[in-house]
Amino acid sequence: MRFCLNWIRLTFTFCWVQGIMSYSFKQPCVTQVSEPVNMGESPVWDPRLGKLLFVDIHDGRIMGYDFDTQTLDVAAAFPGNDLTPIILTKNQHIVLAGINRSLAKVVLYQTTAEPEILHTVQNNKPKNRFNDGKADSKGRVWIGTIGHEPANGPLELNAAALFKFTKDNITNPNIMIDNVSVSNGLTWSLDGTEFFYIDTPCEEIVKYDYYAETGNIANRKVVFSTNEQHMGYPDGMTIDEDGNLWIALYGGGSVIQVNPSSGELLKRIPIPAQYTTSVAFGGPDLDVLFVTTSKRSLTSAERIGQPGAGSLYAITNLGTRGVPNFEADI
Ligand SMILES: *[C@@H]1O[C@H](CO)[C@@H](O)[C@H](O)[C@H]1NC(C)=O
Ligand SMILES: *[C@@H]1O[C@H](CO)[C@@H](O)[C@H](O)[C@H]1NC(C)=O
Ligand SMILES: *[C@@H]1O[C@H](CO)[C@@H](O)[C@H](O)[C@H]1NC(C)=O
Repeated sequence: MRFCLNWIRLTFTFCWVQGIMSYSFKQPCVTQVSEPVNMGESPVWDPRLGKLLFVDIHDGRIMGYDFDTQTLDVAAAFPGNDLTPIILTKNQHIVLAGINRSLAKVVLYQTTAEPEILHTVQNNKPKNRFNDGKADSKGRVWIGTIGHEPANGPLELNAAALFKFTKDNITNPNIMIDNVSVSNGLTWSLDGTEFFYIDTPCEEIVKYDYYAETGNIANRKVVFSTNEQHMGYPDGMTIDEDGNLWIALYGGGSVIQVNPSSGELLKRIPIPAQYTTSVAFGGPDLDVLFVTTSKRSLTSAERIGQPGAGSLYAITNLGTRGVPNFEADI
């Protein structure tokens, strides 16, 4: 499936022109770059493919946005499953994916390939599913769950956990943080001594001391709270080359930039979709901040007001850029 619509090119051209105009004012430029999916999440730039990969969680799809051709395609699809996150591996054809509560290997762009299930967590919580996850500098996989979300009803709180998978013990992941509700937003400081984490309903970005050699964490501290200003719920997170955090605010229709050392809010950039889910730097120069969004929780009236909800957005002209992802070694 390919969405190569003229309007995407037109909005790009418009933003390019707007980008030149706003350059002198150093204003970020936000552009919708894809057709909407249902619930976009887990954006990751794959420099080998030249694509921004992301997922459509409840449709079990991995999407690929080609930076050069500005087209969106389906890199893998397992309808009937929840699929998130995706984590790059050392093999450019294979990603690790969370499928329901299972960590699996998925071959991209091979329609007949079935996922290879490596391990399933929380068998005592069958309605949990995996949520955000990333590889650390040693290729270990940090991936957390989310409690049961009934179609009509509150999320089950404190039923999730953050796991760490290592190559030599793939069927015995360590529980790194327990009693979590919605495991989200993880990233590491540039010097590799801090681990940043989000449990979404807590409305906090927290940090731990991180020991790269052992893969241990300790000494939890709150870096920033979205609660006082009612900004929205912190969801996906990444770090820029200056060491500042970028966080998507679920329900808050925006992304924010926070200095994790001072706790200062540096920027808030509105996105024309209320449910902004995650962020990742991409493009050949890692200077475009891609933002995934969801339309899943919008009423039909709200969907009319937010026609771009569910699509991938690109923010340019930010004056900073990202750092390369670590690849999983599993
Ligand atoms: C994921 O969950 C769905 C719905 O419960 C189920 O139909 C599907 O078989 C599960 N997939 C895997 C790989 O366990
Ligand atoms: C794997 O994990 C199990 C359970 O925690 C432990 O007993 C075992 O020693 C581990 N094996 C390796 C190779 O680390
Ligand atoms: C889990 O977290 C909640 C909310 O922070 C707290 O009330 C509860 O005591 C915790 N439970 C355990 C077992 O740590």
